[in-house]
Amino acid sequence: MITRIRNCLLVCALSAGVAYGEPEPSALVDQQHCMFCHTHDAPFLAPSFQQIAERYRNVPNAQTMLEHKLRLGGKAHWGDTPMPPAAERGGPLSAEDAHTLVQWVLSQ
Ligand code: HEC
Repeated sequence: MITRIRNCLLVCALSAGVAYGEPEPSALVDQQHCMFCHTHDAPFLAPSFQQIAERYRNVPNAQTMLEHKLRLGGKAHWGDTPMPPAAERGGPLSAEDAHTLVQWVLSQ
């Protein structure tokens, strides 16, 4: 029974185009142009979301730090280029939306 439920979850997730982790909050991702600079698995103009998840998965308080950074910006942790703050990416981001986005990134 449990296996059947798990299979269903897997199939449903795959058919939605998401193989693992949290579902993508697509509207927010579009509005904030995340994929303009990031990809899931290949470093591009910015570290990939998988690299970010890997780096912060076991770091205490990473969620809070990243939410703050997503909303207001902050110094670079990966290279010389900091990520622009929300206002310069597509508009101000609420604390709740930042939480959703960071949770999704860290689940990649
Ligand atoms: C204009 C390009 C750009 C856009 C758009 C962008 N990012 Fe970034 N992002 C970057 C760069 C560059 C870095 C690396 C910054 C650094 O070195 O800390 C980064 C880093 C990050 C980090 C890691 C921060 C850290 O301190 O390690 C997270 C999480 C992140 N981005 C999430 C997102 C999400 C979610 C979105 C959409 C809401 C987004 N980014 C949109 C360029 C972008």
